[in-house]
Amino acid sequence: MRLILSESTKVKGEIKVGGDKSITHRALIIGSIAEGITTLKDYSQCEDCMTTLEIMKKLGINILKNKATIKIEGKGLHGLTEPLDVLNCKNSGTSMRLLSGLLAGQKFFSVLTGDGSLNKRPMKRIIQPLSLMGADISGRDDNQFAPLAIKGKNLKAINYTTPVASAQIKSSIMLASLYAKGNSSITEPAKSRDHTERMLNLFGARIETPGNQIIIKEKKNLLAKNITIPGDISSAAFFLVLASVIKDSKVLIKNVGINPTRTGILEVLQKMGADISLKNKKDNNYEPVADLLVKEKDLKGIEISGNIIPKIIDEIPILAVAATQAKGTTEIKDAKELRVKETDRIYAITTGLKKMGAKIEEKTDGLIIEGPTKLKGNVCESFGDHRIGMALAIAGIIADGETTIEESECINISFPEFTETLGVICGTDSIDEEN
Ligand code: S3P
Repeated sequence: MRLILSESTKVKGEIKVGGDKSITHRALIIGSIAEGITTLKDYSQCEDCMTTLEIMKKLGINILKNKATIKIEGKGLHGLTEPLDVLNCKNSGTSMRLLSGLLAGQKFFSVLTGDGSLNKRPMKRIIQPLSLMGADISGRDDNQFAPLAIKGKNLKAINYTTPVASAQIKSSIMLASLYAKGNSSITEPAKSRDHTERMLNLFGARIETPGNQIIIKEKKNLLAKNITIPGDISSAAFFLVLASVIKDSKVLIKNVGINPTRTGILEVLQKMGADISLKNKKDNNYEPVADLLVKEKDLKGIEISGNIIPKIIDEIPILAVAATQAKGTTEIKDAKELRVKETDRIYAITTGLKKMGAKIEEKTDGLIIEGPTKLKGNVCESFGDHRIGMALAIAGIIADGETTIEESECINISFPEFTETLGVICGTDSIDEEN
């Protein structure tokens, strides 16, 4: 499929974005190992989350889904059953890394595989700590990559320092720790998103989080909950940038998750000069939410590096688009993790934006972008990566002429409502789809 975009001069309106992808994955997994019926409202309908849902079903959990809610019949910590077949995580790194932690402590054998992209992404980062806990887990090419074969074992607690700030690594260890004897602790070099910590506590686990450390106390059971999932700030980010750079824009995005480990995009855009305000703040019991009001404002280039990087890790492609419209130099450093995402995002966004006339330079661990540049429409690759596809689609709305995004179906991986939502604020005349 191809997405074809042309310049829009008017971006206005009120929108909602789909439920948070990271939180939906966790709710599906934790609901399955809790006791009783968990219901999820406003869940993410994205392909990655549906992948986790299908895998939990293959592990013996009854899950009923309709448009508005998901009902999970949780079977408790020891209720999962051996799957008959290989479990396919498709494109979803979160599914593979979190589930390997969960499966390491089960009393059965399982195999996790993925698509061409996922089976090339680094897995030693979870195999190593899980093995230290006593897990029997091995992977392709000397334990570097999936497919992963896991023989469930009795696990022991661990005190582990992660080499990179990654919520997927930490969550994998946390889920395994639920099955370990004793208290575990994890220390991160910088704080990554803390949705697993929050959700486990909501379900009755005992997690403490002093500084960059997470302590998981031994636990015998989790109890089902009814949860409303906040809108995904990583999806909202595309519209925050679009409305910031198109003249006279004003967009209200309702009910977005504003967990402080995810709001780096707000901090960075505000530092660049953006006009974003938070309305109707609510704590929502476990994850805070607010409406985000964004109005067009001149942006300036800034340096983005250090501890903020894990808080904007998924937003860097769209921030690169913002930087092409900002006055001066934007330098992004310390972001080499982007090279091992669904695709090498440093290379992919540089390639796409260069084709559109941007002044952008690739660095080993980041990007240097000079602005402002009037972008020109072109035919761009998504590289099969949803966030690259959407970032370049936003660039296409800003650019002169017509922009085509190839393989645009990848957008469904995180944000199936993207094209429709974009149409609401910039008019359907600017958007076309071709099979
Ligand atoms: C995620 C964590 C991040 C992020 C990914 C979702 C999660 O990955 O890039 O899109 O839900 O835990 P890392 O933890 O590998 O940085």
